[in-house]
Amino acid sequence: MLWGGRFSEKIDDKALEFSSSLSYDIALFDEDIKISIAHAKMLSETGIISAAEFDIISKGLLTIKQERDSGKWTPDPAKSEDIHSAIEEKLKEIIGPLAGKLHSGRSRNDQVATGFRMWVKKSCLQLISEICNLQNTMLAIAEENTETVIPGYTHLQRAQPVSLAFHFLAYAEMLKRDVDRIKFTFSQADKMPLGSGAIAGSTLPLNREVTKKELDFASVTENAMDSISDRDFALDFLNSCVIGMMHLSRLSEELIIWSSAEWGLAKIGDKFTTGSSLMPQKKNPDIAELIRGKSGRVYGNYISLATTMKGLPLSYNRDMQEDKEPVFDSFNTYSNSLVLMSGMLATVKFDNSAYLEEMDGDFSLSTDLADWLVLKGIPFRDAHHIVGKVVKLAEEKNTNFKGLDLNDLKSINAVFDKTALDCFKLSGCLQRKVTYGSPNINFIKKRIEDFKKELNNYQMHD
Ligand code: ARG
Repeated sequence: MLWGGRFSEKIDDKALEFSSSLSYDIALFDEDIKISIAHAKMLSETGIISAAEFDIISKGLLTIKQERDSGKWTPDPAKSEDIHSAIEEKLKEIIGPLAGKLHSGRSRNDQVATGFRMWVKKSCLQLISEICNLQNTMLAIAEENTETVIPGYTHLQRAQPVSLAFHFLAYAEMLKRDVDRIKFTFSQADKMPLGSGAIAGSTLPLNREVTKKELDFASVTENAMDSISDRDFALDFLNSCVIGMMHLSRLSEELIIWSSAEWGLAKIGDKFTTGSSLMPQKKNPDIAELIRGKSGRVYGNYISLATTMKGLPLSYNRDMQEDKEPVFDSFNTYSNSLVLMSGMLATVKFDNSAYLEEMDGDFSLSTDLADWLVLKGIPFRDAHHIVGKVVKLAEEKNTNFKGLDLNDLKSINAVFDKTALDCFKLSGCLQRKVTYGSPNINFIKKRIEDFKKELNNYQMHD
């Protein structure tokens, strides 16, 4: 135990087990060792401990790291409250009472806040690189499918034809915002609380700039009380996971419906599907379903920490130890989902052939005909009405647009000429779109090229 002077009895075994965070905050092991070395170095530079003492302390800490990495030593949750205590207790075993000097001017409150921020920063970088991989997979699909026409939906009703490339670029844009959100989270976590002590700093002349540099933080936090009671960066991290998982869940949902016999647009590869124990013909999209399903726990993790924090008076309260499990769990779930989604997408075979015949002359080309009328000077509201009548006529004739000729159109409005019939052709529907951001093939090709450059850039800078 790191404390005990004023206690006459040892903590109850069950109470220690209940309160120990070691089983999970062991994930902060590497960060904690780095923090202790940096803190000890700063203590020696400011003359609070000697250079020789720093040497012994830092060697002791490195020995602990070696012993843990080689499996020679495993911290024991039945003995220690958390990873910070476990390491300090172990240091005492190795170097004796000098270990007691390490904690000068330091509290586990600023220690845990610092280690947790370092862990969040590291994890942000990993997530960004995993998102980039997934975006690259999407761009590869887009590149092959700039002319693959599929129905675009609103309200899950056919709206207008789009391309598969356009659809996947929509997801790539969503993921770009996910990266931006994670970069913001990184910048929030990149402020160092170490040197804040338990609540109000220290009477020792700690040089926070030294530890900031050693631990590679962008700046130091401004207010010691805020520093140790702030978990906003963890909530930003959890929120990044929430929105990122929501995007993956939407894509999963599409892959699931697209692989149904009714849709028949996508076939997920065998490596990422499973069979049924009863129905021999089945191939189930379980991985996509699980990504969709696991978004639930990631949402829950956000609510869990937001609820833990909401009633806490300043400053540190032990409740805050509940911050780590949701964050670790969301990271693992999101990171695995990103990797699996990328692997799975790379195996998907798309086939729009069933749609091509049927979408030729489909009513989802109605807006193109209305636009044609607008270019002839007809007010859009009237154009909308006229095309509505064309649709009605086709329905009465039990056909789609393809079954109508110029006379049919003229029977509804004299303004029609034979160029109007071009609007009914599926081929050319993408190129007819001229606005920036539409599925026009030239725009899409350009966007893919630009996107690739952007990906290179943000991978390089992080
Ligand atoms: N295990 C604690 C946590 O994760 C470390 C800080 C404990 N501080 C304290 N004063 N008990 O929050």
